[in-house]
Amino acid sequence: MKEKIKVKDKEFSVFINAAEIDAAVARVADSINKELKGKVPLFVVVLNGAFMFASDLLKKIKIENNISFVKLSSYTGTRSSQVVNELIGINEVVKGRTVVIVEDIIDSGLTMRRMLDILSQQEAADVRIATLVYKPNAFQSDFKIDYIGMEIPNDFIIGYGLDYDGFARNLPDIYKIVE
Ligand code: IMP
Ligand code: MG
Repeated sequence: MKEKIKVKDKEFSVFINAAEIDAAVARVADSINKELKGKVPLFVVVLNGAFMFASDLLKKIKIENNISFVKLSSYTGTRSSQVVNELIGINEVVKGRTVVIVEDIIDSGLTMRRMLDILSQQEAADVRIATLVYKPNAFQSDFKIDYIGMEIPNDFIIGYGLDYDGFARNLPDIYKIVE
């Protein structure tokens, strides 16, 4: 693992290493396995950012489940554009199901708010939220987050699915921007 990397015009330093990420993913999986025992949840993975978290998380899920993907977009560069577009919708029947939304990060909460609206329109019976990373100081909404891998300060991070202008999603560790 490199301590410092450059992505486009910005410098980043290691913030959360792969082992720490794995431990956080395992904690989230354990909670879901315990709390949703006996249920058959539909996991709805929010693309693109959550792909790596979802892959590792779902390998640790022991209960019966289905998996679907949704694609929303609100970010350009390092700042939220405040507009959330639905690019790919959910194909599975949501009505009456226990749904677990799988997100890489909750920042302002705008993207998740949009997801919650979509799922309530589709009459999900129970909607839970699992996010790898949560930025409490950026949060501007009021919904409850059921499963949180880790809380971080208001820094821009990349790696493990998270990107800077489309780059660095493949990195196994999480890096934070050097201001
Ligand atoms: P929100 O709508 O402001 O909560 O932002 C959520 C989405 O913005 C996430 O699903 C990410 O894709 C992206 N995002 C938020 N913070 C970061 C970050 O620090 N690095 C990279 N992407 C981020
Ligand atoms: Mg995301």
